[in-house]
Amino acid sequence: MATPHNEAERGQIAESILLPGDPLRAKFIAENFLENARCFNRVRNMLGYTGLYKGKRISVMGTGMGCPSIGIYSHELIHEYGVKRLIRVGSCGSIQESVKVGELVMAVGACTDGSYAHQYGLPGTYSATASYGLLEAAVKAARAGGHSFTAGNVLSSDLFYTETPEWKQWAAMGVLAIEMESFALYCNAARAGVDALGIFTVSDSIVTGEALPAEERQTGFTDMMETALEAAVSFTE
Ligand code: HPA
Repeated sequence: MATPHNEAERGQIAESILLPGDPLRAKFIAENFLENARCFNRVRNMLGYTGLYKGKRISVMGTGMGCPSIGIYSHELIHEYGVKRLIRVGSCGSIQESVKVGELVMAVGACTDGSYAHQYGLPGTYSATASYGLLEAAVKAARAGGHSFTAGNVLSSDLFYTETPEWKQWAAMGVLAIEMESFALYCNAARAGVDALGIFTVSDSIVTGEALPAEERQTGFTDMMETALEAAVSFTE
């Protein structure tokens, strides 16, 4: 039972999935963190794999960039493939002096400058949040692994390049960092009654202009992956 964007058969995708933006990142995760990984999707090169982590079944798939793209893929994963736990693993740009490049950020909540939630016709402003259970599992995993992190609000922006420094107004509200996908993921999960969480490594600081050097990028990435994988499988038999 394929969709226009995913050629997997039902049953080929695990109930827990990690979602990097970059499909080649999904391939890298499958090859370096999973055992017996099998590719289930190649449509639009949005690679997806299912394998084992510590003997437990888990999937990983790219989402592309932005709320429209992750909105499509996560909707199909939830509604067509029965996925129950979706963990976005990505990078973000820090907008707080206190949140340094290379550190982990967990998105307790996601704000947006986009229109994704307009579809629900809500009579106010929706507060998109992570699933508490997944967040708690990720916090536990990060602490056990000795990985320091900051947990708080992120901004899921529709804009990467902006004419004006809008990030300053979000920073003034205590928002930690900018990325582009969590709001849509959290909305889709909430609407369907499934669990979602976003975990990030800070790849750059929008405050200082500093970017993470390549070698440290790898360490931050590994810390994030360990945290996400441990959290994901903590719910699997
Ligand atoms: N903006 C949006 N997404 C990002 C950024 C950014 O500055 N850095 C890493 N992901």
